[in-house]
Amino acid sequence: MTAQATDHRFYGRRKGHPLRAWSQMLVDNLLPKLRLTLPAAGPLDLGAVFPDPSRPLWLEIGFGRGEHLAAQAMAHPQVNFIGCEPFLNGVAGLLQEIDAKGLKNIRIFDEDARRLLPRLADASVDRLFLLYPDPWPKVRHHKRRFVSRDNLNEIARALRPGGAFLFATDHMDYCAWTLREVLGHGAFSWTAEEPEDWRRPPAGWVATRYEQKALAAGGRAVYLAFQRRP
Ligand SMILES: C[S@@+](CC[C@H](N)C(=O)[O-])C[C@H]1O[C@@H](n2cnc3c(N)ncnc32)[C@H](O)[C@@H]1O
Repeated sequence: MTAQATDHRFYGRRKGHPLRAWSQMLVDNLLPKLRLTLPAAGPLDLGAVFPDPSRPLWLEIGFGRGEHLAAQAMAHPQVNFIGCEPFLNGVAGLLQEIDAKGLKNIRIFDEDARRLLPRLADASVDRLFLLYPDPWPKVRHHKRRFVSRDNLNEIARALRPGGAFLFATDHMDYCAWTLREVLGHGAFSWTAEEPEDWRRPPAGWVATRYEQKALAAGGRAVYLAFQRRP
C-alpha cells in the first residue's frame, strides 16, 4: 500500500456466535437471492438489481440486525432499499425480518460499504442512513470513523441533489466530529432550525437496536439530518 492509498481495513466483527438452524437456512437460501454483487468494473446497474430501478433508492450503511431497514422497507414499499452490513449475524437478523414480513424491496451488500459507495452511479441515491456507527472513542482510532473526508466525497457524489443524509449517534464527540466534517465538506447543509430538530427523532423514525439499548442505559441520542446541496 502506498502512503496515499486509502486504508480499507475493516475493524468490526464479521461473525459472532454460531447461527441457529433457521438463520443458517436463510443465509444459505435467501441471502444468495438478495445479495448484491458488484460488476467487474464500472457503476452498479440498478436495472440488474431491482425490478423497477426508476423508484427512489435508499441506502442504510451498517444496519446491524436490520430492524430499522426492515421497518422502513415495510413502510415504503415503493422505494428500493440497499442495506450494507459485513457482520454475518446482523445479516441473518435482517433476513429473518425480510422472511417474516415478506419484504421484496431490499437487497443486501454483506461487505464493507466503502467497496459499494464508489460503485454507485452519480446522484443515484435519494436517502442514506448512517445510524449509530461505531464511535471509535480513542483518539488514535478516530481515523477508523465512517464519517471521513473520503467517505463523504463518495456520499456527496452518490446522493442526488436535495437527497438526505441521516446520521444518529449517542456519542457526543462523534456528533461534534460529524458536524465538523460534514459542514466543513461543503456539499451538505444541515436542515436543523432549532434544537428540537436534532434532539428529537424525525417523524417516522424507527429506533435501532443500538439506540434502544443506549437510551435504556440512560444515554441520549442526537439526530443529524443533512441535505445534499444542489
Ligand atoms: C454500533 S453498530 C450499529 C448497528 C445499527 N445501525 C444499530 O443502530 O443498531 C455499527 C454497525 O456498523 C457496521 N459497520 C462498521 N463499519 C462498516 C462498514 N465499513 N461498512 C458497513 N457496515 C459497517 C458494523 O458491523 C456494525 O453492525
